[in-house]
Amino acid sequence: MPDDAPHSFDIVILGAGSGGYACALRAVQLGKTVALIEKAKVGGTCLHEGCIPTKALLHAAEVAETARDGAKIGVNTSFDGVDMAQVNAYKQGVIDRLYKGLTGLVKAGGITVVEGEGRLVDATTVEVNGERYTGTNVVLATGSEPRTLGIEIGGRVMTSEQALQLDEVPKRAVIIGGSVIGVEFASVWNSFGAEVTIVEALPTLVPLEDPVLSKGLERAFRKRKIAFKTGVKFTGVEQNENGAVVTLENGDTIETDVVLVAVGRGPRSEGMGFEEAGITLDRGWVPTDERLRTNVDGVYAVGDLVPGLQLAHRGFAHGIFVAEEIAGLNPQPIVDANIPRVTYCEPELASVGLTEAQAKEKYGEVESLEYNLGGNGKSQILQTAGTVKVVREKDGPIVGVHMIGARMGEQIGEAMLWVGWEAYPDDVAEFIHAHPTQNESLGEAALALAGKPLHSHA
Ligand code: NAI
Repeated sequence: MPDDAPHSFDIVILGAGSGGYACALRAVQLGKTVALIEKAKVGGTCLHEGCIPTKALLHAAEVAETARDGAKIGVNTSFDGVDMAQVNAYKQGVIDRLYKGLTGLVKAGGITVVEGEGRLVDATTVEVNGERYTGTNVVLATGSEPRTLGIEIGGRVMTSEQALQLDEVPKRAVIIGGSVIGVEFASVWNSFGAEVTIVEALPTLVPLEDPVLSKGLERAFRKRKIAFKTGVKFTGVEQNENGAVVTLENGDTIETDVVLVAVGRGPRSEGMGFEEAGITLDRGWVPTDERLRTNVDGVYAVGDLVPGLQLAHRGFAHGIFVAEEIAGLNPQPIVDANIPRVTYCEPELASVGLTEAQAKEKYGEVESLEYNLGGNGKSQILQTAGTVKVVREKDGPIVGVHMIGARMGEQIGEAMLWVGWEAYPDDVAEFIHAHPTQNESLGEAALALAGKPLHSHA
């Protein structure tokens, strides 16, 4: 196709989720012409069936808990139940407003949005609805989808996609998988009044986190009466007219009303011509080098499709990186270990950098400090328990921060800077943290690590 053909662009992006649309927005800022191909809605999983709706449910859950607990601090509130229609309307309202803003940005940027299912034809061509779109560069940004381990999804058995659409609160729920999605839904449904049991194959909940978080969360969930069985795999699910029965490998069975399958997300790369166009796949993922180049010249991949952390903000960063790379700005590669991770269950988990075990493996000798939120005024006002754990290379910079406690997700920004800038506790301890905030707990941890603790026994 000649360069001046109507469907010819600098960049053709397949998928308009966090990775794809961020790439498009940055590319047009840099003067590139962009076609953004999307079969569903611009915004992708994060906006429509992931981060945003889940966090809206978690906020509703927090309000339910506040209503339940009001009397404990002398405010006479009571929890009278959950109206899921209204909760869903609130959640959809949040999505709709963000969607409107995003489509406005895309339009204002002059990005050509092509609706339909794209198929990669070759290194410069994507076909959509029988039309061909060519780009000097192509960016694959098709994301991920729930894994199901062969379990048939339907009726009472669901993934997070259906769980977000429930129009009533289940009485009983079994959640298979006790990692991020599992503990977030467990938290919501427990706050809404359901009896929840989590089944996790590995020995702890949130098994990828530092033990200070996994153990802390297990303690908090026990207190909240969220049941969990760890170190055991599920083997089957059967539905009947009254409910569903989940069978575990140790022979136990659990009766329930709904089953949420939250055993990870896999790459969305099948049936889109990737392999035929010469892209190497690794169990469905698209491997790239650190500059996010695939094995095919001119074709990049971003976001969940690329092996590593599956997080919307990693997708944004990848998208921006690729746009800048194509524009010749030579951006800094993105390092997964410096990407902050927040799990929005109650209590929240927030971490960045290495766990203590990972740090030991990498640096040999490390120092770590755990600051108990018991010494933090604002945490006590909020009546939350928790910990900030800071890990540093022995006599070296901070390489990991791990936090648990109500609302502690909001503290990740500072921790992310410490790790990203390879800060020393002494550097950080010079800065003054406002009192009384939960942010102070980070300052206190740094003071303690610098050898001058204030409100801690370190
Ligand atoms: P995950 O990959 O984090 O965890 C899946 C869990 O299922 C693992 O702990 C695994 O041991 C367990 N599992 C696997 N097979 C099992 C079996 N047969 N029986 C029992 N347990 C089994 O996946 P998850 O939680 O589904 O999340 C998917 C992705 O979405 C993650 O990468 C996560 O980071 C991302 N996400 C991020 C959020 C956030 O940043 N707040 C929120 C929700 C999802």
